[in-house]
Amino acid sequence: MRNSGGIVRFVLDNKIHEVDFEKLHLSPTTTVLTYLRGLEGYKGVKEGCSEGDCGACTVVLAELNNRGGLEYKSVDSCLVFLPMIHGKQLITIENLAVTTPEQTQLHPVQTAMISHHGSQCGYCTPGIVMSLFALYKNHQQPSRETVTDAVTGNLCRCTGYRSIIDAALDVCHHPADDHFSAEQEHVLALLGDIASEKTTLDLQGHGQRYLKPFTLEEALLVRSRHPDATIIGGSTDTALLQTKKNIMLAKILDLSAVDAMKFIVEDHRRVSFGAGTSLQELLEYAENRLPYLRDIVAVFGSLQIRNMATLGGNVGTASPIGDLLPLLLVLEAKVRLMKTDFQRDVPLHEFITGYRKTALAPDELITLVWFDKPGDKELIKTYKISKRKDLDISSVSAAMRLTISTDGIISSARLAFGGVAATPKRATRTENYLVGKRWNRVTAMAAAVLLPEEFTPISDARADDAARNIMMKNLLIKFWTETDGNPQTLNVTDYEK
Ligand SMILES: Cc1cc2nc3c(=O)[nH]c(=O)nc-3n(C[C@H](O)[C@H](O)[C@H](O)COP(=O)(O)OP(=O)(O)OC[C@H]3O[C@@H](n4cnc5c(N)ncnc54)[C@H](O)[C@@H]3O)c2cc1C
Ligand code: FES
Ligand code: FES
Repeated sequence: MRNSGGIVRFVLDNKIHEVDFEKLHLSPTTTVLTYLRGLEGYKGVKEGCSEGDCGACTVVLAELNNRGGLEYKSVDSCLVFLPMIHGKQLITIENLAVTTPEQTQLHPVQTAMISHHGSQCGYCTPGIVMSLFALYKNHQQPSRETVTDAVTGNLCRCTGYRSIIDAALDVCHHPADDHFSAEQEHVLALLGDIASEKTTLDLQGHGQRYLKPFTLEEALLVRSRHPDATIIGGSTDTALLQTKKNIMLAKILDLSAVDAMKFIVEDHRRVSFGAGTSLQELLEYAENRLPYLRDIVAVFGSLQIRNMATLGGNVGTASPIGDLLPLLLVLEAKVRLMKTDFQRDVPLHEFITGYRKTALAPDELITLVWFDKPGDKELIKTYKISKRKDLDISSVSAAMRLTISTDGIISSARLAFGGVAATPKRATRTENYLVGKRWNRVTAMAAAVLLPEEFTPISDARADDAARNIMMKNLLIKFWTETDGNPQTLNVTDYEK
């Protein structure tokens, strides 16, 4: 199972770069940010928050896509453990310009940032340029919305965003081939060379052990032999234990290279998402198919977070503020748990057993999440209330689903809320009240009053319990105004203040 020497290999500067953790006395959970900052000539990448909120540390990872080309993803290097980039190309701010003894030729995104005056103090600029570089490589003529989404994860405190957005719109209008396009075949060959070695990486150093399998079979085997290892999918939740709480993870099982856990399958009856599907892949899939999923994933973290974070990780956290969980609850999703010789499908509400606690056994992995497709006529909406629209933690989140029979009567109701109890939870008593009633203003207002009786919200920096109760009620009223087809029947005074 052990790869020779426990060496991580990735492409940097168009060459294979090797990191031998034992030889370098390096912790396997060294982040890409820390590694680069210690490497001569790579200090362009900056550290701001170390928790995925500022984007100063943004780098781009290029990896093989299913069309045989390269896909460019912006990520927060402060949350990415070095072994996670094994088999990928790491692109840093130093790689954008081409320097010869005669001259330095800036990359088009750098030139655009200069001509639009997109930088003042410059601390955020390398991160912003890397986000714009990924945008440039992935989008032809992006909309303003796509551009703003690309820089949502990058904080700029002095320049402001207008000139940065103008630079992006200008340079991506007709993106031309750059030196990365010219080098693509060479990079693909290097990545192919690394990918040909599929033995589980077993890295040790600093009293830590890091296991990185490439197949599902190996992943299940490692899980059965190392039930004490912390599992990571995208590590956007787990890395914070190290970067913010100074907890050194003794043993890690990294699933980020298990391709068999990255898939989306839809047939006439159900939709299944592999646990390793990234939130950005979910968003792209949901865009024109599942508006209720799109609406909640669109306000999930930032692009850098969504590029790494996985569905399995969101379910695995069992967090009361896990934004996908209320929706998965109303969809009555099932979580597939697998071990080497057995698998079981557990309803999500049984999988979550308490505050950040799950029914996952020590030898099991979450491999997929599936749900039966709702009927075309069902009313389904998702909501997230947070202090700011993007890159923020939910104060309250909600998913609501109603089936209305042909005579206008509610035949089934499912309402789930996040942020108002120790776990995301269905409002079963309010659901029962709704069934058998007509979906109109009177029903919605009466049901809203019942909601707070079902939950015991906490008070914290985001909102106190009273505010959370009001948010729940008003979300149900909002759901009615958006689905009843008579928004004009709402009075502003219907909302509770
Ligand atoms: C800046 C920032 C913004 C964020 N914004 C949001 C947001 O808007 N909404 C939101 O809900 N969350 C948010 N998060 C939290 C986090 O990104 C999500 O919960 C994400 O889905 C976690 O996925 P991951 O793959 O990165 O999880 P990881 O950190 O890899 O894992 C999380 C947990 O799941 C377990 N796990 C992961 N995969 C498996 C598996 N296959 N089998 C068994 N267990 C598994 C792990 O052991 C761990 O306990 C944010 C985090 C950051 C840092
Ligand atoms: S340092 Fe702020 S996002 Fe990484
Ligand atoms: S230029 Fe100063 S923070 Fe953006």
